[in-house]
Amino acid sequence: MRIDKFISEQAGVSRSDAKTMLKKGQVLINGSIVKSADAKIDPEKDIVTIGGKKISYRKFMYIMLNKPDGVVCATRDGLSSTVLELLPPELRRKGLFPAGRLDKDTEGFVFITDDGALAHKMLSPKNHVEKEYIVTLEKPAEKHYEELFASGMTIDGGEECLPARLTFTDNPQIVRLILHEGKYHQVKRMMEAAGNKVTHLKRIRMGGIELDPALSAGQCREITACELENLWE
Ligand code: URA
Repeated sequence: MRIDKFISEQAGVSRSDAKTMLKKGQVLINGSIVKSADAKIDPEKDIVTIGGKKISYRKFMYIMLNKPDGVVCATRDGLSSTVLELLPPELRRKGLFPAGRLDKDTEGFVFITDDGALAHKMLSPKNHVEKEYIVTLEKPAEKHYEELFASGMTIDGGEECLPARLTFTDNPQIVRLILHEGKYHQVKRMMEAAGNKVTHLKRIRMGGIELDPALSAGQCREITACELENLWE
């Protein structure tokens, strides 16, 4: 891989900024200054430092974002701001996209990656990756909801849902809901089919990865390798 491409992708800077860093002699490959932008490196083996700081190689990026209300889960949107615009420069790179969408008014865990194969696998209902939501309702949840959601509901237009797990909380208007799929507006439509209405929705878990409670709305961080292994749990 060309060194300017490596720097641009891994350090989240533009290709021309990478070239400037090289020209200024700020870049070392295995301890030696390299100024030429087309020098080749093996990203898995060579050690690259910029201004003394090691740039570790990540083939793919995996990011958890605590999405705030009012931001859209898209790579581009003419009108509203997108989840990608919330990423700090050091986590930005080409090819990132949100793996699975939340509605504009839904908050919580958005998984952002450039690993298309993993995203595809994660979103496929056959892999049963759980998505857990905290759902605030207009009216108190009723006792029979637990069974109703577990039975595999039919929502408007005759769409069949996979069995979902609903649990009650101390607040009768707040429930937890675990889904294994991601149909359009699914939680809202399921609650409507149950005769209720969602007033607030937040995703707090994807597979075995919980949304980091230290992230306030709009903040994000990389998912650790250890957390990523838990995704399939
Ligand atoms: N279900 C919904 O209705 N909306 C979301 O954003 C996610 C799940």
